[in-house]
Amino acid sequence: DSEESLIERPSVVTIMGHVDHGKTTLLDSIRNTKVTEGEAGGITQHIGAYQVVENGKKITFLDTPGHAAFTTMRARGAKITDITILVVAADDGVMPQTVEAINHAKAAEVPIIVAVNKMDKEAANADRVMQELTEHGLVSEAWGGETIFVPLSAKTGEGIDTLLEMILLVGEVEEYKANPNRKAVGTVIEAQLDKGRGSVATLLVQNGTLKIGDPIVVGHTFGRVRAMVNDKGRRVKEAGPSTPVEITGLNDVPQAGDRFVVFEDEKTARQVGEARAQTALVAHRGEKSIVSLETLFD
Ligand code: GTP
Ligand code: NA
Ligand code: MG
Repeated sequence: DSEESLIERPSVVTIMGHVDHGKTTLLDSIRNTKVTEGEAGGITQHIGAYQVVENGKKITFLDTPGHAAFTTMRARGAKITDITILVVAADDGVMPQTVEAINHAKAAEVPIIVAVNKMDKEAANADRVMQELTEHGLVSEAWGGETIFVPLSAKTGEGIDTLLEMILLVGEVEEYKANPNRKAVGTVIEAQLDKGRGSVATLLVQNGTLKIGDPIVVGHTFGRVRAMVNDKGRRVKEAGPSTPVEITGLNDVPQAGDRFVVFEDEKTARQVGEARAQTALVAHRGEKSIVSLETLFD
């Protein structure tokens, strides 16, 4: 894509941290405080990702556990996360999975924002968390470093607005961009077989715009986008960069982490999809020898 065709896109965020430090509570809290009442079904609808609007700008949160997202990214070479929120419980401090999360994010070169959670608790000690993370190379801006720390409580909601502002700040610095005027490419967040609707896949559009009727190859499956539902449970006709969307119309169920590419016509999509499915069966030949979606991705 040429420079002129690129425009700003929402940051894509995952949440990582030690067990019980509050990842799920934080994701729920952000969603519940930010989904407006007009968006009926926004709270009950669950497609594995959601978008919120802060100061007029969108942020996309992936609902998959951060560790799983990073493992998938590493295994398939798919980069789906722009920013990771490292949740550390202020009453517990740095624990083994905290360190693991830091290592994942560093290896993937994904910026980290530290959410010092559970600040409502009596035993909360944010300074201790800052001190402990210093030993792992995350030095707070308050201490002359470069890492943003946000003390908050996922339970009371205190500090969540600040966290969202900091995500926007990182997004502005990193300048995440995409071209909405090209055919869509992206990654599968989750997929399953639905009794009534057949193969249902939640996709993250990473570049371009996905539209109803688009011929598409998703991993080793293919089809035409039959219907699209957004994170608020509404039917939509298109989905732009950084947008999560649930689609139907695939001939089979793809896997989380699979890449997708939209093609010019259905015939090509079918040929590529069938070739890829065939290659997947012939294990030793390796899929790159026939058609690699990665080469079509950028
Ligand atoms: P796993 O997915 O099991 O790793 O846990 P998690 O990181 O998703 O933590 P979860 O959100 O399940 O929270 C664990 C416990 O901490 C629950 O009992 C939450 O209610 C509680 N909790 C989470 N955030 C806060 C908070 O800000 N304050 C207080 N007091 N409790 C919290
Ligand atoms: Na838990
Ligand atoms: Mg959880």
